Amino acid sequence: MTKVLVTGGCGFIGTNLLKYILENKPDWKVVNLDLLTYAGNLENTIGLEDAYPGRYSFIRADIADPAGVNEVFRAHKFDLVMNLAAESHVDRSIEDAGIFIRTNVLGVQVLLDAAIRNKVKRFLHVSTDEVYGSLGSQGSFREDLPLAPNSPYSASKAAADLLVRAYIKTYGLDAVITRCSNNYGPYQFPEKLIPLMVVNAYHDKELPVYGDGKNVRDWIYVEDHCRGIVLVAEKGKCGEIYNMGGDAEKENIEIVRSILAYLKKGEELIRYVKDRPGHDFRYAMDFSKIQAALDWSPRVDFTSGIKNTIDWYLENTPWWNRILSGDYQDYYERMYGQR
Ligand code: NAD
Ligand code: TYD
Repeated sequence: MTKVLVTGGCGFIGTNLLKYILENKPDWKVVNLDLLTYAGNLENTIGLEDAYPGRYSFIRADIADPAGVNEVFRAHKFDLVMNLAAESHVDRSIEDAGIFIRTNVLGVQVLLDAAIRNKVKRFLHVSTDEVYGSLGSQGSFREDLPLAPNSPYSASKAAADLLVRAYIKTYGLDAVITRCSNNYGPYQFPEKLIPLMVVNAYHDKELPVYGDGKNVRDWIYVEDHCRGIVLVAEKGKCGEIYNMGGDAEKENIEIVRSILAYLKKGEELIRYVKDRPGHDFRYAMDFSKIQAALDWSPRVDFTSGIKNTIDWYLENTPWWNRILSGDYQDYYERMYGQR
């Protein structure tokens, strides 16, 4: 059995990754370490212990707590660590950067130290395309571009990438980094563009579009990303960075219109609101490196991915109703009330 630690397994990508691993890697035994912040939902992983006896367990811990992390590493002797735990929402990082630095930078340093001390065989760090900054209307991000983050979130992720690099060079850690574009799919917290628009449209509530809605993101179905993460963990070369993308660049307004059309709601629900400060104009990925080296390409096209995603939200209204009835209301009022 390969002993694997997944951090952040109760978040959006982490939940999908756990399910992908348990389904597809029968000789992997996984520990999910998650602090259960506002974005972490233990409900997502209910039933996994029983469905995969002896292969799945959960530990509530903070990646930025050295004592707690070391205890877990000492007890489990992981072969592989996959770090997904993070504060992940750009708008929240603009409100308050502190927790982003604590989790996304300090937390990564704590995990890296524990990995060295406990002789972890491989460390996979999940990063983001946002570390490259913003593109104009042409071109795409390659792995050898300089880092140019524009938000506290992306700056914290870039800092973590540099720490991973330093631990490879200084301590000989075997580590790899993945950088991926915007994910969408089941279990995404409804503060992010796609689920927020689905949930608002469902309630005939206004859809807040930042600026003129012409900012462009590349969208990847979360399962394609998870497959890539596992592939890089297994076959990626130490010290390398691998970009992943969905080959689906869309203007935000296009996404919003397609959600409204699918839900048969009128475009009068769209409301253009004040732009996000430092709003990156465009992200696009050149993923030819992982294509050539590991034979990875995205498999889910946007049309079927978005349909699956919207259907999932329609079929799982209790899941997001429970989220919407909690602290999320205060956040929504702070973020959109006066905008
Ligand atoms: P998410 O916000 O949905 O989930 C983050 C998870 O981390 C939550 O379960 C939360 O409880 C946990 N967490 C937060 N702080 C923690 C701490 N101190 N200790 C332990 N656990 C903690 O995020 P996501 O969208 O699933 O993103 C996962 C990773 O993928 C992040 O590193 C993010 O930067 C990266 N990423 C995300 C996207 C995307 O489009 N969502 C794209 C590229 C990369
Ligand atoms: P988001 O899902 O927050 O991801 P990221 O900022 O990491 O790319 O936002 C995706 C895009 O949608 C981004 O250009 C900002 C925009 N957006 C809106 O127009 N309205 C919203 O309410 C949100 C949350 C995002």
